[in-house]
Amino acid sequence: MIPQQFIDDLLRRVDVVEIVGQHVQLKKAGVNYSGLCPFHTEKSPSFTVSPTKQFYHCFGCGAHGTALGFLIEHLGMPFPQAVEELARRVGLEVPRQAPPGDPQARKRETDQRARLKDYLLEAAKFYQRRLKDAPHAIDYLKGRGLSGEIAARYHLGYAPDAWQSLQSVFSDYQNRDLVDAGLVIEGEADKRYDRFRDRIMFPILSGRGEVLGFGARTLGNDEPKYLNSPETPVFSKGFELYGVFEARPAIREARQVWVVEGYMDVVALAQHGLGHAVATLGTATTAQHIQQLLRLSDRVVFMFDGDAAGQRAAARALETALPFASEQNRIDFAFLPQEHDPDSFVRAHGAEALRSWASNAKPLSAWLLELAGAGQSLEIAEGRAAAVAEAKRLLAMMNAGPLRSQIMREAARRFDVEDFGVTPAAQPGAARDARGWGDRPRASSGESGRFSRPVIRPLAERLLQILVRAPDWARRVDRDIAASLDDGQGALLDWILQRLAPDGKTSFAALHEAALAEGRERGSDAVRLFIRLAQPDAALDELADGPVQPFQEEFERAISRLRLRTLEEQAARLANLAAQDPMALGELQQVRETIRLLKAGTPPQ
Ligand code: UTP
Ligand code: MN
Repeated sequence: MIPQQFIDDLLRRVDVVEIVGQHVQLKKAGVNYSGLCPFHTEKSPSFTVSPTKQFYHCFGCGAHGTALGFLIEHLGMPFPQAVEELARRVGLEVPRQAPPGDPQARKRETDQRARLKDYLLEAAKFYQRRLKDAPHAIDYLKGRGLSGEIAARYHLGYAPDAWQSLQSVFSDYQNRDLVDAGLVIEGEADKRYDRFRDRIMFPILSGRGEVLGFGARTLGNDEPKYLNSPETPVFSKGFELYGVFEARPAIREARQVWVVEGYMDVVALAQHGLGHAVATLGTATTAQHIQQLLRLSDRVVFMFDGDAAGQRAAARALETALPFASEQNRIDFAFLPQEHDPDSFVRAHGAEALRSWASNAKPLSAWLLELAGAGQSLEIAEGRAAAVAEAKRLLAMMNAGPLRSQIMREAARRFDVEDFGVTPAAQPGAARDARGWGDRPRASSGESGRFSRPVIRPLAERLLQILVRAPDWARRVDRDIAASLDDGQGALLDWILQRLAPDGKTSFAALHEAALAEGRERGSDAVRLFIRLAQPDAALDELADGPVQPFQEEFERAISRLRLRTLEEQAARLANLAAQDPMALGELQQVRETIRLLKAGTPPQ
């Protein structure tokens, strides 16, 4: 355990140009340095190192990182050794600090996790045994088309209809671990009872086959339909996928993995010879899910129900997947007919029909473009402009590379624009104009805040995009601006503020390492947003790497624009209100006056 504060200090002292320069021949190119990328073969240099951000980035293959990252990625050093190496160079001693708590506490945690897994395994075996003498549970599964073989492959079980049946397996029923494992609930007056009663049990296994938790379905119409294990030291819904362990051989064979929404979908597909499906656990797809899926296979097909909820889930899944999409993988989105989920579809139409449905799924590129244009009238300029803005927002979440370039070209064709924004660095002015503030959709006046999200959100994101590149300015974001940020954006601002050293300083590189460190554990919303906003942006990065003044001017401009937009929205809302309630008029006038003053004082351009 190396304290994050030390990593921050270290990154302030080392020079990424010097570190990288020992392995790559670098030439000065403007304010940055460039050379042939050491991470892929190329003939002309697309690898740049920024002394300002203390960061390297390859426009060809997307490789990027700090000085620390370079030692890890390029020289293959393990993290602690890379830290040692950097510290040695600048004459610092790596603090040999015990982890939070102490080594013994850490050992206790590890031991407890092992014990919880033992309990969960015993419980799974118990439930599986109980299924054998529960005819009504067996009938239920048969009724849903499942054979004994599939029930056995997925270790399905039955939790008896009794309050303390686990007592027959665990003589130490009072043990705290049973509660921590999520198997037993502590009621009033320390009275304990089993969490799962009279339900079909779906054990959730880790990739290595350890039992981590359960999903449990009622046989009747009880609410909730599915009861799940709570978050425990060994189980976290956002991290696990149902069926991964059981599906692995089939995934290898099919050379693809399907992602469905329900436990029953997974087992029903396996029943029909489609064993390569896994399910999220009733939560939205997380970045950890996507990473795990792409480790399982470079071809992922998401299957969503054909209803509006399915579309929404698919839109969210797209945004989560974008940072991981590249020419090295293929991520598709399939939408089932309205009335079906994968289980009912395969039972109605058979495996072949579902297979062909999956192979005709929408590739990520098509789904992105469809979403960008959704609800817009593409035959008029206004609609196309709004589509372009939304496409840009989505594309900004992707790593630069062949896939993103292809989608940009396609978007430019489809929405009829000449240039999609990221232009060669040779024309910085043009690039900036194309990505700047001018082309955002405007709030149509008089419509009560209906357009507020699409307008404020990209604006606030732009501000934060600047801020992650110049985190020292975080303290200059006032309260009224902070109030117009949404939850995730506000969390990111707080996260940056917390990371400022006592002298009010930190750097892009330090934030990047901190995000990686937290991401490795469990990334917060703030960290995920940071990772997204820190993605390379040709025009903005060029500005950020250059002299401070123009960049700072852009920052000031962003702040006043955001303030203005917030007030304009407020005015639109008040104007609506005032139509029914004259009391709002006074406030409206005040807001309008502030807008007028602000406009008069806004820096020109
Ligand atoms: P569905 O309601 O679509 O369930 O929820 P399903 O898998 O089709 O179930 P059947 O066919 O009626 O048996 C999809 C997933 O959402 C989570 C579960 O992970 C479920 O598999 N869920 C749903 C819950 O966690 N709790 C619930 O009460 C309902
Ligand atoms: Mn179902």
